[in-house]
Amino acid sequence: MNQPTPKHFLKLEGFDPEAARLILRKATRFKNERGLPGLSQPLLDQTWALIFSKSSTRTRVSFEVGIRELGGRPLFLSAADIQLGRGEPIIDTARVLGRMVHGAIIRTFAGKDVDDFAAYSRIPTINALTDDEHPCQILTDIFTFEEKRGPIEGRKVAFIGDAACNMGRSFAFAAHMFNFDLWFAAPAGFECNVTNSHCHHVRDPKEAARNADLLYTDVWVSMGKEDEAAAREKAFAPYRLDHDLLTVAKPNALVLHCLPAYRDKEISTALLEERAQDIFDQAENRLHVQKSILNWLTTPN
Ligand code: CP
Ligand code: NVA
Repeated sequence: MNQPTPKHFLKLEGFDPEAARLILRKATRFKNERGLPGLSQPLLDQTWALIFSKSSTRTRVSFEVGIRELGGRPLFLSAADIQLGRGEPIIDTARVLGRMVHGAIIRTFAGKDVDDFAAYSRIPTINALTDDEHPCQILTDIFTFEEKRGPIEGRKVAFIGDAACNMGRSFAFAAHMFNFDLWFAAPAGFECNVTNSHCHHVRDPKEAARNADLLYTDVWVSMGKEDEAAAREKAFAPYRLDHDLLTVAKPNALVLHCLPAYRDKEISTALLEERAQDIFDQAENRLHVQKSILNWLTTPN
């Protein structure tokens, strides 16, 4: 059942921009055609494993539903319930699952574990969030911006808050790939460690937000960082996305948040509720974009 050389979707770092554009174009079709009769089922009779070591609502549900809509069957495996959680190496888990399922979607801590899984399983593998990237989310965010405001190329994006987290890093790679300007506003010690000519690093959130086309934030305490919660909440307090920050952005600036949102921490309740239509459209778009990723992975070049 294994493809000799499977495609993977592991990170935005180094990902082929043409493939990313193809995935985005087809995501529009998946969205527009959802529920119509006679759609192709590229995962027909396939089983795809979801191996999750961290909590998830959007990623898990959108992949489980998306796999079913493409004709396949999802198999959810909490890492805590399989031998992986008792210390079985990822490369052994990979070699077992690679003989039984057709693809894998992995949410875990180290990006290397997803890379190793892909290498040893020899089945298409998707990174569903690691400590250093969240590629499915960021591709969806580009899709959502363009759906609502047109091409992202040349636009100014402000990322306010924990620039060092997986979201900041994937955004930095996306800025290079899609040619937009990315302004990070983060406190000392939480700067994004990706540098390229599209990324700017400032302390003042208003400097980042000024004339921005998109204001973006993420949780202050990423999964795995819970022990640092108190220190982070103190450091990030001046970095809340709210109406005050919105006043310096472009008049039709979009506000997005990958969710889950912690109200009156990284985003004010008032701004989140005012922009809920866009933010929950963004969440829905996970389904359409990930169906397109699954389709791309299972379509030979
Ligand atoms: N944004 C996101 O990945 O949400 P979940 O953690 O709920 O999957
Ligand atoms: N940076 C967050 C993203 C959640 C979707 C985390 O890793 O917890």
